[in-house]
Amino acid sequence: MPDWPLTSYLGPLGALPTAPRLARGFVVQVLTSWGLTESLDVLELIASELATNVVRAATDADGIPRYDFDGRLHLMWLRLLSDKDKVMLEVWDDLPETLGAPVTRHARDDDETGRGLDMVEMLTDDWGWETVPGWTGKRVWAIVSAKYEDQ
Ligand SMILES: Nc1ncnc2c1ncn2[C@@H]1O[C@H](COP(=O)(O)OP(=O)(O)OP(=O)(O)O)[C@@H](O)[C@H]1O
Ligand SMILES: [Mg+2]
Repeated sequence: MPDWPLTSYLGPLGALPTAPRLARGFVVQVLTSWGLTESLDVLELIASELATNVVRAATDADGIPRYDFDGRLHLMWLRLLSDKDKVMLEVWDDLPETLGAPVTRHARDDDETGRGLDMVEMLTDDWGWETVPGWTGKRVWAIVSAKYEDQ
């Protein structure tokens, strides 16, 4: 793993339908300030897909948020890290394993869903997810190359 001299994070955000838009805005603002705008569109899309997946897993079939054992909304956090050669986006959530895990579904032509992570796989150098020891929740990460624009 490279060293990541640049880091920025956002959160906690409620796992609500507004979160993907906040995630996109965070990516635009941070990558613009780092001068890494060439990877901006791709990372905006990935942030949106990963945040949307958390919201979906945190929402029941009737569209009502699933609350945690203490009656609180589920949360997510975003983090961007870069060495100006690559950018890593992380989306952390506090969802228990019983609410599922990221799996590529390899959607067929007539499937309406199941494309998000396929797209993430296509657009990234690498991606993955892991549970976090001693904590309920997980970290999903995606790495893309970045070309730093001299300012
Ligand atoms: N953060 C997450 N927590 C729990 N389960 C997840 C998470 N991210 C993805 N998943 C699981 O992985 C599956 C595949 O995700 P993917 O984004 O590829 O498809 P989708 O969200 O079902 O549909 P689409 O993204 O095309 O609207 C999801 O259906 C869900 O079951
Ligand atoms: Mg999805």
